[in-house]
Amino acid sequence: MDTKILDGTQAAAVNEAAELLKMGQLVAFPTETVYGLGAYALNKEAVRGIYQAKGRPSDNPLIVHICQKEQLTDLISELPPLAETLMEKFWPGPLTLIFPKGEQVPAEITGGLDTVAVRMPNHPVALALLEACALPIAAPSANRSGKPSPTLAAHVLHDLNGRIAAVVDGGAAEVGLESTVLDITQTVPVILRPGGITKEQLEEVVGQVELATPHGDKKETPRAPGMKYTHYAPEAPVIICQAQDLEKELQEKINSFTGKLGLMLSNETLAKLKIPKTATVVDLGSQNNLANIAANLFAALRTLDEAEVEIIYTEAFPHTQIGSAVMNRLSKAAGVEEKEVIK
Ligand code: TXA
Ligand code: MG
Repeated sequence: MDTKILDGTQAAAVNEAAELLKMGQLVAFPTETVYGLGAYALNKEAVRGIYQAKGRPSDNPLIVHICQKEQLTDLISELPPLAETLMEKFWPGPLTLIFPKGEQVPAEITGGLDTVAVRMPNHPVALALLEACALPIAAPSANRSGKPSPTLAAHVLHDLNGRIAAVVDGGAAEVGLESTVLDITQTVPVILRPGGITKEQLEEVVGQVELATPHGDKKETPRAPGMKYTHYAPEAPVIICQAQDLEKELQEKINSFTGKLGLMLSNETLAKLKIPKTATVVDLGSQNNLANIAANLFAALRTLDEAEVEIIYTEAFPHTQIGSAVMNRLSKAAGVEEKEVIK
């Protein structure tokens, strides 16, 4: 199968993508968080295709994307008390809400759970596409399972060229990290995955919000099943440094490493280091602009992968605002529990 590249700025191209989705084909499209791999959510065959194309475990449920609140009627069985307020405030936007699922939603979407994840993306191309097809669209991030999520159409093609019908190009994803997943079926809402909307932003609107412990009780089915799988992992090991004297520690590591070195650091840290010419360096931006760090993170991991570095040194960022989502993804890329981030 040839994967078509469609220009998201052209109405005819967006309509063509919508027709493909209606026919049960797979189409990747931009959202404000990352690119999604879309299929018509109520078409079981189409949804199975998503798992196949990504190489994704089938018990990891998908987020359904809509462009109008009215579309919820077919997807959910009940509107939890906080839903209206949260939708009013954060939709369209990077907040995924967990609802009790409606009867029509296939088990292929929910991984067999009795809940369904729904969000309304805040991206003109995503909204135009959802309007043009007038269908709820299931869409995980459009990467091969385990790899960093795509923030450019080129990343999607790198991972999925020949495996999907089309990708709609809408430029770089602005947020760069996936949506916050919030379980509102509990009395106190629980953040299952930190993301584009911060805990602070949610608490301002609905009061107390809990953050799910990463793995919880091992005997329990994880509440966000996706969180138990390896994620965002480049080929090279990722080492997160957060020593008191970060620069000294990093300089020693850099000096003693003899292989192909990769660095992914803030510009403040980079400015203080002596870096060998042979190293591949990605500047993540300023420590004072965590949103920018978030936007650059996944592309940085992909750049270092392409350069075939043998190790990646990076640094810890504060857990404030979108920093907690950054640290969540970095820890996963490094294959460590967040609390174990290397000192
Ligand atoms: O920003 C995003 O959310 C992107 C864009 C494309 O919208 N999508 C995305 O999808 O990140 P994905 O499949 O990569 O991640 C979905 C996450 C997984 O951690 C999954 O376990 C969780 O949402 N999830 C989905 N349905 C769930 C449910 N019913 N209950 C709990 N967690 C659920
Ligand atoms: Mg994903």
